[in-house]
Amino acid sequence: QTTINYQADSRGLKDFYKNYFSIGVAVGRRNLTGDEATLIKKQFNSVTAENAMKMASIQPREGHFNWKEADSIVSFAVKNGIKIRGHNLCWHEQAPDWMFIDANGKQASKELLLERLKTHIDAVVGRYKGKIYAWDVVNEAIDDDDTKFLRNSKWYQICGEDFIVKAFEYAHAADPEAKLYYNDYNTERPQKRVRIYKLLKNLKDKNVPIDGVGLQAHWSIYEPSKQELIDAIQQYSSLGLKIQFTELDMSIYPWEKEKRAKKAGETDTYTPDLEQKQIAQYKMVFDTFRKYKDVITNVTFWNISDRATWLDSYPVIGRKNYPLLFDTQLQPKKAYWEVVKFK
Ligand code: XIL
Repeated sequence: QTTINYQADSRGLKDFYKNYFSIGVAVGRRNLTGDEATLIKKQFNSVTAENAMKMASIQPREGHFNWKEADSIVSFAVKNGIKIRGHNLCWHEQAPDWMFIDANGKQASKELLLERLKTHIDAVVGRYKGKIYAWDVVNEAIDDDDTKFLRNSKWYQICGEDFIVKAFEYAHAADPEAKLYYNDYNTERPQKRVRIYKLLKNLKDKNVPIDGVGLQAHWSIYEPSKQELIDAIQQYSSLGLKIQFTELDMSIYPWEKEKRAKKAGETDTYTPDLEQKQIAQYKMVFDTFRKYKDVITNVTFWNISDRATWLDSYPVIGRKNYPLLFDTQLQPKKAYWEVVKFK
């Protein structure tokens, strides 16, 4: 095994993977200075706004747009030659309450809601036209319940399936060059995969302008299996769609549905055994990604390092997680070397 002197080596993930796909990271304005900014520039050639481009952040009140943080991320990326993925245009979470309520305080009509969606998408996609090369247009529209199809969100209650079609049409009209993605989680679980495939096939059959599917990849050291990952890549790409892994992290805990408080005495130690499992899982997924480089166009990590990740407070508040390739000191972990060791 060749050991690489990390400090002296000028290569980053983006360089090791330059013949495969771009490598991204989710960021906020807080990450754009100091040692984190240095790391971003060395390692990544794509960024996603972790929260700043979501509907409630960008348009907290009707017609009042808050561009500050989103603009700062876009200008950092443009200045440093980094590509930008947009996240996201339509989601049941982090959507402002006003969106669904009319002037009389009643539930908005379908007509009004779609008009507001169009106004929002026109403004956001239009502002970053030519700078954001791909958008997550609709996020997480499939229900978690295996017996149901679309999630029973406000969007669905008011518009039925049409909100999905319309969101893609509005986004395409606002920037015909941007690549448009449907994005979701647990996309490798066989039963959810069937439902996501059904939605994507419906969209393709209706000639909706969709280019690809975003697999969030909020994974753990226990799942997905290699076969599940391969099945997902093959099934989605059989529709002629590109695949991006949009929010990759590898939790050291099994995923649980319910949010709960940390239990007394519950461990949050990153044991050598857990680390070993994580190394193996990272190696497995990147070995697999490389085999499918013709359909995979980007892999994005959800946060920079174990210093601070959204998984430190989700789904369990106050439980430290260690899901990324850089440690709390921003140094590459052993898993990093497995991910870049190939030929
Ligand atoms: C998360 C952010 O990381 C958190 O900071 C925020 O509090 C909640 O949202 N799926 C998505 C992302 O599509 O937008 C979510 O990001 C994580 C799950």
